[in-house]
Amino acid sequence: MSLIGLKAMFFNCLKSFTFRLPASEKVGCYTIKPMSLVDAWHSVGLFHKVFDDESYSIFKAAFLLLVGRRFSTCIRDENKKIVAFQFCRLGNRDLVEGTIHESFIGVHPDHAGRGLATSMRWFSVKSFKNNDFAGISSRVSLSNLGSLKSAENVGFCILESYLDGSGRQEAYLILRFDE
Ligand SMILES: CC(C)(COP(=O)(O)OP(=O)(O)OC[C@H]1O[C@@H](n2cnc3c(N)ncnc32)[C@H](O)[C@@H]1OP(=O)(O)O)[C@@H](O)C(=O)NCCC(=O)NCCS
Repeated sequence: MSLIGLKAMFFNCLKSFTFRLPASEKVGCYTIKPMSLVDAWHSVGLFHKVFDDESYSIFKAAFLLLVGRRFSTCIRDENKKIVAFQFCRLGNRDLVEGTIHESFIGVHPDHAGRGLATSMRWFSVKSFKNNDFAGISSRVSLSNLGSLKSAENVGFCILESYLDGSGRQEAYLILRFDE
């Protein structure tokens, strides 16, 4: 791991200890809540269902279970099954800009189109404001209309767009709390 990667890891660990967890909220038959260890484990399982072309490495899963889950949000249905997740962490750019990064958001296909991604994003906006972050950053493929729309719903704006490693048009989004 590079020195920059080590710095980000250090600050993720440090912030995870002082992070004030939000209280859970009910939205209809769903519960939006901070991610427990068990929730994180089930969220990794759901990740593989939602992103069938992307793998979540053992390293990333270990980071989520041990550290990243403190910043992350999930939704359980009335049967306590995890149906949505939002993974967050501090990236290198966030350390400079005082923001926190939403790395992945996913909703079980059976529960899509019910406003769950938007509700989770509203929930994390409140939580990150309460933890003195300056805003939230994210990266979304411009062809992913569902993710873009729910990000715009809560106030994310496109800061820059570029081609990702596989030649797809992607955008760096930011939601600043002071604007
Ligand atoms: C993208 C995703 C997170 C959206 O979750 P969701 O809970 O269905 O989103 P919401 O119900 O909050 O929808 C938000 C808005 O997007 C719109 N929308 C949702 N899916 C859409 C689609 N495929 N095309 C166009 N608009 C869409 C909704 O109509 C809604 O618009 P409105 O606010 O005007 O009503 C979900 O479809 C998903 O998990 N996709 C696969 C994983 C993924 O691509 N994650 C994002 C990249 S990390």
